[in-house]
Amino acid sequence: MAQKLIAPSMLAADFGNLQRDVEMVNNSEADWFHIDVMDGHFVPNISYGFPVIAAMKKYATKPLDVHLMIEKPERYIEEFAKVGADIITVHHESTVHLHRTLRQIKDAGCKAGIVLNLTTPVSVLEDILPECYMILLMSINPGFGGQKFEDITYNRVRKLRAMINEQGLNTRIEIDGGVTNKNIKRLADAGADAFVAGSHVFKSDNQIATIKNLKELANS
Ligand code: DX5
Ligand code: ZN
Repeated sequence: MAQKLIAPSMLAADFGNLQRDVEMVNNSEADWFHIDVMDGHFVPNISYGFPVIAAMKKYATKPLDVHLMIEKPERYIEEFAKVGADIITVHHESTVHLHRTLRQIKDAGCKAGIVLNLTTPVSVLEDILPECYMILLMSINPGFGGQKFEDITYNRVRKLRAMINEQGLNTRIEIDGGVTNKNIKRLADAGADAFVAGSHVFKSDNQIATIKNLKELANS
């Protein structure tokens, strides 16, 4: 079985010490940097854009997993690729021509994925799954870090894993929102492969040890 992956969310990093926090992730057992882009329209919050991502890319030694919480993401795909995105995920709810947007991400040289809001049925993915490197399931309402994990996610992971297996694909499932040492193993057992963790990592006293612990639990 493939290794389960940990993606610390840089939304919870200390922006005054961004280089330090990027280097912490470099030196940890984390696999990806999770980069949350918010536009104040698709979600109520605004996070950061191109110059900040380029600054992180300058020091990052691991792939950037860029989660776009913006309306009509197709307007900006090439620019996100240019500043260093390795994986780009777009919300099903944010773009009308999803298939075209996924092709656009791949044409820009990135791996492409779809994000589903908390209650968007996983069945909407049935026909588009073969186009996806990864599916990101939100386990909170997107827009803010530090929210409580919603338990309906376990069943959603199981359903999506069954759909992926049925189609004979190896699409990854990533979980985002409220992931901690209390729920990561159960999510991994349900069939998730990658885990975003913001507050749980960055608010802990020993961030490197927290990441190591998450990774061990996910792979246990
Ligand atoms: C929220 C973001 C998440 C967020 C997760 O909309 O997509 O990636 O940073 O933060 P935690 O782990 O604190 O819930
Ligand atoms: Zn995210």
